[in-house]
Amino acid sequence: MNEYDSSRMAGLMKKAYGLRLVASPEDADVLLLNTCSVREKAEEKVYSELGRFRKIKKDRPDIIIGVGGCVAQQEGERIQKRAPYVDLVFGTQTYHKLPELVNQIRRERVNITALDMPEIEKFDHLPQPEAKGISAFVTIMEGCDKFCTYCVVPYTRGHEISRPVEDVLAECRCLLAQGVVEITLLGQNVNSYKFTLGNGTVCDFASLLYQVAELDGLKRLRFTTSHPLDMSENMIRAFVEIPELMPFLHLPVQSGSDRILKRMHRGHKRAQYLETIEALRKARPDIALSSDFIVGFPGETEADFEQTLDLVRQIGFDSAYCFKYSPRPHTPATRMKETVSEEVKDERLQRLLALMREQSQQALKAQLNKTVEVLVERRSRTREDMQGRTPDFKIVHFTGKPRLLGQLMPVHITKAYGQSLRGEPILA
Ligand code: 5AD
Ligand code: SF4
Repeated sequence: MNEYDSSRMAGLMKKAYGLRLVASPEDADVLLLNTCSVREKAEEKVYSELGRFRKIKKDRPDIIIGVGGCVAQQEGERIQKRAPYVDLVFGTQTYHKLPELVNQIRRERVNITALDMPEIEKFDHLPQPEAKGISAFVTIMEGCDKFCTYCVVPYTRGHEISRPVEDVLAECRCLLAQGVVEITLLGQNVNSYKFTLGNGTVCDFASLLYQVAELDGLKRLRFTTSHPLDMSENMIRAFVEIPELMPFLHLPVQSGSDRILKRMHRGHKRAQYLETIEALRKARPDIALSSDFIVGFPGETEADFEQTLDLVRQIGFDSAYCFKYSPRPHTPATRMKETVSEEVKDERLQRLLALMREQSQQALKAQLNKTVEVLVERRSRTREDMQGRTPDFKIVHFTGKPRLLGQLMPVHITKAYGQSLRGEPILA
């Protein structure tokens, strides 16, 4: 979502000032740092990056430095206290005001903090998105009302707000007209998307998926992220009925222990998650699954953690993001007394990662000698090669020409690397 927001900010600054993106911060007149505070590690990076910006400003005092996003929303004026060379702190819901704020700083050389969370649509104030490549993100909702006890998102991104159906469709059409063929719908919790139309009928996420899938030029549709509680029957049916909807689902579960799920306030038990996965696999047997896990949540015992390993073994994920728990400001989990030591967190993370590596290797190896449909997305870093993705989101490298960009092509898989595949295109 930050990537999406950053590209919208860049579009806005281009329209307002004709500013273009430069490759290195040393060459910039305006430096905007878009920040993430979902985990402690991401937040620490902000101040080290700002240290680098400070040196640039020493040589060129006229440049403007802004910090936006979740750390800005959470820390507010504290950022300028710690880093007084920062001119502007703007939140997650105020970036549409960037041109006006930057203007004011240029004129008056004042420090500004703009953190309000208005209900108005910042999206209404942004210029049309510019496509970069054949795959694009579109934010459909923001914020979260789930309040998991470890999570800062409801505080930094605010309550759930869904964008109007027509706006989402218009943004998709605009991107498709620029040659985009794959769209990923974005939100902290996309499957609780809900928009009430003028006639009083409610459009839910499944219904939105059907409408986006109908748009001319769309070859592939994806979404992220969803919450297990909102995986409705309609959603599962969408995986059967919408051919454009790709067989890949990122469905964070966080833990395999009922005790920990309860302390995390996830709202479901292990068995419900397993049932959802079973229903999905029945509906769409080729679906690949990925998830998020937190190890070392306060109170997590060895037995709880083993439940997580057991759930991973039982389901078999293609990939997963695994994190050590870190306390986040304002969240209820910070007040839980039974913390887990760093050593134990480290050790559990290593065990989980080892298991996940095994599983993702297995998933990649299972593709060997198969012919899969690859959407050609970009040149590989190795010059001769092109790179694309299978329907279930695995990266494939193959020898080919850039004119293949945006095409769907059959590729015979010949090799499984650590995190990707290699294949030979099958030419018609
Ligand atoms: N500590 C560790 N991981 C966290 N996540 C969210 N909050 C925390 C935290 N306090 C992880 C969750 C979530 C992902 C985006 O980040 O796994 O799904
Ligand atoms: Fe955070 Fe996701 Fe829980 Fe919302 S559902 S509070 S974004 S972890």
